[in-house]
Amino acid sequence: MSHPLFDLTGQKALVTGAGRGIGLTLAIGLARAGADVALADIDFSGVDAGRSEIEAMGRKCVLIEANVTDGDSVDRMVSEAAAGLGGLTILVNNAGTNVRKKMDELTEEDWDRVLDLNLKSLFFITRRAGEEMKKAGGGKVINMASLMGWSVFRNPRGQTYGPYASSKGGVISLTRSFAVEWAKENIQVNCICPTFIETLLTKPLTEDPEVFGAICDRTPMGRFGQMEELIGPCVFLASAASNLVTGESLIVDGGWNAG
Ligand SMILES: NC(=O)c1ccc[n+]([C@@H]2O[C@H](COP(=O)([O-])OP(=O)(O)OC[C@H]3O[C@@H](n4cnc5c(N)ncnc54)[C@H](O)[C@@H]3O)[C@@H](O)[C@H]2O)c1
Repeated sequence: MSHPLFDLTGQKALVTGAGRGIGLTLAIGLARAGADVALADIDFSGVDAGRSEIEAMGRKCVLIEANVTDGDSVDRMVSEAAAGLGGLTILVNNAGTNVRKKMDELTEEDWDRVLDLNLKSLFFITRRAGEEMKKAGGGKVINMASLMGWSVFRNPRGQTYGPYASSKGGVISLTRSFAVEWAKENIQVNCICPTFIETLLTKPLTEDPEVFGAICDRTPMGRFGQMEELIGPCVFLASAASNLVTGESLIVDGGWNAG
């Protein structure tokens, strides 16, 4: 039997970057907990099985093609999510990317691409989604940050994922600013900071035995995380179980941060 504090029945969630990977997995997890979901992405080529799974649960599943780095697209995305679901009470800011080069090799374009998608877009999406949450009497924002927002890891290729780490550190700070300013609006804003998770984004790492081995050696649990292992943290932060938690980072890292 599920605990009522974690029940998301009647909640309306928008998940960005939900066409595949962690975003799609989290959308399925939120739906499993009872929420209707809007999936936003620039690419839905891998969404069919996940969408069918959500619809088979009897939940609404609205697909919204949107580029989260484009202001007009963001406005439309949030409006369509609220219209399609009948309001908006949960936002998962998940769309993100990485460029794996050493600091000396990065171009301005690399920097802008990562920062625009991983950090700048979250400011505009969250602000616009907050308007809908205030109409609904409150809500939950969950930002997908990263362990790399807290600590830098130098891989065997000498890379520290500089723009990525900078963007995710920014997400942690952005989370706190929204959390404090909206604390009295009954909107809780938190972030999840996962370790390396096996997805298409990290395929180049899992396919490089030296890098893969170094990450596993550095991790007390000795392995990458699986996407499904982020569902529990996400449902917690989306549910009434976390009503007194705001501005926090939930680190999900197989013991990395502990030593
Ligand atoms: N995989 C990991 O190890 C890991 C660890 C910590 C944090 N994260 C974070 O989790 C999130 C998801 O990671 P993932 O591994 O599932 O990545 P992924 O590359 O598999 O999925 C990202 C999704 O975002 C979408 N997207 C990209 N640009 C977009 C845009 N401009 N507008 C809308 N959608 C866009 C892509 O089409 C894709 O579906 C990212 O924010 C990432 O930084 C991942």
